[in-house]
Amino acid sequence: MKRVIVTGGTGFIGRAVVEELRRRYPEAEVIAVGSATVDLADERAWFEWLGEVREGGPVDHLIHLAALYKAGDWPVHHPATQFNVNMKLNVNALEGWARFLPEAKLTSVLSYCMYPSLPHAHPEEELYGHEPEDYLFAYAMTKKALLIGQRAYRQEHGLRSASVVLPTVYGPGDSFAENSHVVGALIGKFVRAARSGAREVEVWGDGSQEREFLYVGDAVDGIIAAALRSDEPALNLGMGEARSIAELAQWIKDAAGFDGEIRYNQDRFVGVKTRQLDVRRMRDTLGWTAPTSLPEGIARTVRWYEAQLG
Ligand SMILES: NC(=O)c1ccc[n+]([C@@H]2O[C@H](COP(=O)([O-])OP(=O)(O)OC[C@H]3O[C@@H](n4cnc5c(N)ncnc54)[C@H](OP(=O)(O)O)[C@@H]3O)[C@@H](O)[C@H]2O)c1
Repeated sequence: MKRVIVTGGTGFIGRAVVEELRRRYPEAEVIAVGSATVDLADERAWFEWLGEVREGGPVDHLIHLAALYKAGDWPVHHPATQFNVNMKLNVNALEGWARFLPEAKLTSVLSYCMYPSLPHAHPEEELYGHEPEDYLFAYAMTKKALLIGQRAYRQEHGLRSASVVLPTVYGPGDSFAENSHVVGALIGKFVRAARSGAREVEVWGDGSQEREFLYVGDAVDGIIAAALRSDEPALNLGMGEARSIAELAQWIKDAAGFDGEIRYNQDRFVGVKTRQLDVRRMRDTLGWTAPTSLPEGIARTVRWYEAQLG
């Protein structure tokens, strides 16, 4: 890699992608784009910015992570905002790529919320011909639109691209506030409770919902591997196994050294029952597997968050 643009390069996963690219390719120019760099939803500002970047020479990779998404029940209350903003981010990313960086390979990052709520590991074929979960409909459809857009730009302009579909990503650099994604939220709660001597920690749901989790360092490694070596229009990138929230909470409790009780609150919104990726294509075509086990990744993240708290 010589010159790379990472949209969403100021976010949780994007920051880690940028850091790893700079570590692996010290000679490369890695350009991180966040909303303070340029508003990607504003076509004119984005094209102007790309024009300036293009004057500095060709770009060989565009890694597209920018998105508007929040955890918990936020998507239930903001489907129109999610639809509007994410459509603009994706449509502008595609057209800017074709006009200003046609030599670059685009690698986009999708989410397993695009899959339907079926009780088995989702193969990539299920991205089409099935409806995503109702409360994730708007967001999931903007990701599907991106996938279709990549196909269209490949067909009409001969541009090169790949996509990866990620499960729930966690790790150092995540948000640990209460309203964050499940792993960060629980690590935040358990670590703070262990420090304050609280007697119990509340976990949303009954603990039986299942999710697949991927350590951020592994997600970054897989995204870079796909950018370099995958021509698959969509490739699931994960551990290929789902774990229950009860198991997750117990591992986090142990890693945080919390000796109080876990209280399950079944009145809170918890989303779909189970979600898991079928990762056979990833193994066959990319020869890649995620090396970090969930307990190990949790322990590392807990240590990182404890160090942040001081
Ligand atoms: N986290 C997960 O568990 C997970 C799972 C599956 C897929 N993904 C996908 O991975 C990607 C990154 O996720 P993340 O968790 O790292 O998200 P994040 O922390 O919320 O970061 C979002 C990024 O998008 C940028 N962005 C948003 N609106 C923008 C705009 N109008 N103009 C320019 N930049 C804008 C943000 O910039 P600022 O912060 O500077 O505003 C930030 O860098 C997303 O596409 C997401 O769908 C994430």
